Amino acid sequence: MPRKPIPTLSGVFTPTETPAHLARDVIESALREAIMDGRIPPETPLRQEEIAALFGVSRMPVREALRRLESQGLLHIQPYKGAVVTALISQDAMDTYGVRLLLEPEALRLSLPHLSDTDLAEASARLIALRKARDSATLARLNREFHMALYRRAGNARLLYLIEQELEQEERFLRFHLSAMGTGHQARDDHEALLDAARSGDESRALALLRRHLSQAEQAIRHYLADQDNAESPAGDAPRTAGEPK
Ligand code: NI
Repeated sequence: MPRKPIPTLSGVFTPTETPAHLARDVIESALREAIMDGRIPPETPLRQEEIAALFGVSRMPVREALRRLESQGLLHIQPYKGAVVTALISQDAMDTYGVRLLLEPEALRLSLPHLSDTDLAEASARLIALRKARDSATLARLNREFHMALYRRAGNARLLYLIEQELEQEERFLRFHLSAMGTGHQARDDHEALLDAARSGDESRALALLRRHLSQAEQAIRHYLADQDNAESPAGDAPRTAGEPK
């Protein structure tokens, strides 16, 4: 299979001068966004000198930003190549849903009896915004905020922290799959049914809906990965359109 040309970062970022004290954070969030929305595709090497030159900074903040992105799973270090953008959908995506399936129903169960009208109104506002959202970063953020609004009264900060971390991971592979798999509308209906059950304080229905919501996403990714294996198509050819996240 012919190799695609290796993309360069100069096509993604306009050279700029970055104040030294902001450099690490600015570079981290600029790279993060560009990786997540697909402007920097998987397998792109991220060279420290190139990034430093583009942002008009020394290599030190670049190195720190890359280290942070590595710890977030967005890139990995390869011998001779240095930092390389990680493929965004993999077994890891399925594992994320596996963990969410363990943690989120418990958080919802703990939180449900204590949800206030304000909490429910905030969850509902996220669903309204989700309908209008188009870009994957916004979709992922609103989905995360919707779920977290329902769990926030769980009274276990550590549990919520773990869940939020899994939800943040999801932004990485979000743009790849859900609309392609036709589950965008399904996710929307799931969310509304879930909110409805939470409003009426129906614990068993809410938990069943949440479990179904997450297992369907896990299944969809499983099928998607299996199809990809069959087609032997590179991850870079996956659809770019974002669907509604789980
Ligand atoms: Ni969801």
